[in-house]
Amino acid sequence: MSNAQQPTDPVKKGLEGVVAGSTAISDVDGQQCQLIYRGYNIDELVGKASYEEVSYLLFYGKLPTRSQLAEWTRQLDGGRTVDPHVLDILKQLPIHAPSMALLRTMVSVIGCDDPQAEDEALESIQKKAIRLTAQTVTLVAAIGRLRENNTPLPPKPGLSHAANFLYMLHGEEPVPVLAKALDAYFVLLADHGFNASTFTARTVTGTKSDYYSAVTAAIGSLKGPLHGAANRKAMEMLEEIGTPEQVEPYVQRTLADHKRFMGFGHRVYKGADPRAKHLKDIAKSLGTTNETKWFVISEKLQDAVWNAKQLYINVDFYSASLLHYLGIPTELFTAMFACARMAGWSAHILEQWADNRLIRPLSQYTGPRGLKFVPLSERT
Ligand code: SDX
Repeated sequence: MSNAQQPTDPVKKGLEGVVAGSTAISDVDGQQCQLIYRGYNIDELVGKASYEEVSYLLFYGKLPTRSQLAEWTRQLDGGRTVDPHVLDILKQLPIHAPSMALLRTMVSVIGCDDPQAEDEALESIQKKAIRLTAQTVTLVAAIGRLRENNTPLPPKPGLSHAANFLYMLHGEEPVPVLAKALDAYFVLLADHGFNASTFTARTVTGTKSDYYSAVTAAIGSLKGPLHGAANRKAMEMLEEIGTPEQVEPYVQRTLADHKRFMGFGHRVYKGADPRAKHLKDIAKSLGTTNETKWFVISEKLQDAVWNAKQLYINVDFYSASLLHYLGIPTELFTAMFACARMAGWSAHILEQWADNRLIRPLSQYTGPRGLKFVPLSERT
């Protein structure tokens, strides 16, 4: 008898604890509470390596040399512009639809507009991935500006990925400390093993469907409040609380209502999410020159939820105040997560293409058996 799982074996709901495949891109170590990108602990990378360096690392498996980084940056710079006729289609969409729905739609539009969309050659997929990774910040900034009745701005050549987003959203070049904060956010959220949206992208790729379909599906998965939308929900939670004095009453109400605290808990980490401490430090530093109350409420809520349920914060908790301090509208928060995760999704799609096998698990049938057909005239 093969040791393959049988439909009669116990089901791991939500595939909890199931090793569904292998990858050399990142390791999410739930016991040690460590995140490794291609061999580097993220503590080694954050604040030292830029998103340009880390996205190269995720794609190609090593940190770039100076000349490789210059070429990579040139490719990202060259790919960041979104064609005007594509932006015209964005302008025809209901701009107050959820920003993740708009982003999902616009990735599909860019796919329809790409004559190479169906080309399966790895080099072709790499080119699409580099271009779309670069364009995603342009799309999200355009969505943000159109929602405020402002005209979308083209990217400014020579600005970094993070600085360009803030320029395209706010219409002015960011001070270095803000660009550095967003760059670190992008690095910390760039990849995370077989999380739901990445596994979705790999499952779509497993059928040999195209790159844009895999990214569109991943955006759809990230949109959910149990995954990427938790950062937006965490900010809404902070705004509902409003003042540090209201933290404890909020916690008691949430517990009494058996509701979830957004930005807390994780399927894999059995301790602290290793990204959270860095995001907390960045949010704290930004808070000193802004409305400090969001950081103060966050820290008080973190302690109160720990005391009540021994729940750890996850990547989305301090992402909320960090993104708020960068002047990014709450509605765009999950789309910011997508901007960061584009590098990870793309690397996983390329890895799946390079050694593909259709992803098709078994299921345990729990319905009836042996029923006999009853003609319509006899059904009651
Ligand atoms: C991301 O997978 C990844 O890697 C994702 C991610 C990435 O980088 O890609 O890390 C990004 O998605 C982070 C998670 C963002 N989501 C949230 O913050 C939403 C709130 N958190 C959860 O709902 C929850 O913690 C999950 C979904 C993240 C994980 O849930 P699990 O593993 O399915 O755990 P569970 O729902 O079975 O909960 C176990 C227990 C339950 O207690 P009981 O009801 O059994 O008594 O813990 C409790 C839960 O009630 N619990 C929470 C809670 N999370 C778990 N209780 C209150 N608030 C929470 N947030």
